[in-house]
Amino acid sequence: MQTALITGTSRGIGQYIARSMGKAGYNLVLVSRSATEVEALAVELRAAGTRAVVVAADLTDHASLQRIVRIAGEEFGGVDVLVNNAGGDPQHEFDQMSWAQNENIFRLNVLAPMELTHLLLPGMLERGRGHVVNISSLAGRIGFPYTEAYAAAKDGLIAFTRVLRSDYRRRGVSASVIVLGAIRDAGQGQRTSDELGMKMPRAGTSPASDVAKAVLTAIRKDRTEIVVMPGPGRLLKAVMDLFPGFGPAMNQMAGANETIRKVIELRKSE
Ligand SMILES: NC(=O)c1ccc[n+]([C@@H]2O[C@H](COP(=O)([O-])OP(=O)(O)OC[C@H]3O[C@@H](n4cnc5c(N)ncnc54)[C@H](OP(=O)(O)O)[C@@H]3O)[C@@H](O)[C@H]2O)c1
Repeated sequence: MQTALITGTSRGIGQYIARSMGKAGYNLVLVSRSATEVEALAVELRAAGTRAVVVAADLTDHASLQRIVRIAGEEFGGVDVLVNNAGGDPQHEFDQMSWAQNENIFRLNVLAPMELTHLLLPGMLERGRGHVVNISSLAGRIGFPYTEAYAAAKDGLIAFTRVLRSDYRRRGVSASVIVLGAIRDAGQGQRTSDELGMKMPRAGTSPASDVAKAVLTAIRKDRTEIVVMPGPGRLLKAVMDLFPGFGPAMNQMAGANETIRKVIELRKSE
């Protein structure tokens, strides 16, 4: 039986990923800072027959990352699949955040996934098998307002996955990146819409369950990259890459800039 370590499982998309990987037969190591919520998920998964261990840990802390890997080893003898899902953005203006806040966004969204991979890779190489799945965002490509550190981290995560995959695949360890567009039903986008009293449209958004499916497909079919968005997601991403001004112009036309401005004001008032 294989073991998957999934980060960011106290709420949002990570819970969907954990349920689908539990169903697929993996032992699970579930990580987040909020122990109560993750423990509730573990209870549900254990009732369905999954072996699940909870590690309450802050991923921006080096010692915590080492503790996560140690516990996974003690419980299950190692990790076969690492899903770097934890992430997010505090939704404040770049210049209004301290440098430490900006650095923390970068640490959570790209350095922690890289460090966890670095800690788990020796065991994967020794066993001759492993897969790292990184959850990135179209925000890394499209230029959403006030996402400087987040966008840099998510774009960096795509680059990290590409090189990791090409360097270690011949030795049995692969890597995939899942690039998310707007996700409904769970997660930060849905929560923010709810807070603003806006209905998340079905058009242009994908359900959180699609992300869980994409993670399993990436592992089973060893896919380089899956873009989770309705319609020709990969094509749209390719257009953004070809014409860097297209994303910001589209945000302006679609009213996304105005919405994000409202979110920034809401966060300021909290
Ligand atoms: N939702 C979307 O529309 C969307 C779009 C594009 C990309 N994404 C990406 O999808 C992934 C999941 O996002 P989501 O929307 O499900 O976010 P979410 O609902 O805000 O959940 C984030 C998860 O990450 C954990 N986390 C945050 N900071 C952490 C830290 N310092 N240490 C340990 N765990 C931490 C949170 O748990 P604790 O707070 O308990 O620690 C939580 O379980 C993220 O990488 C996000 O960037 C989401």
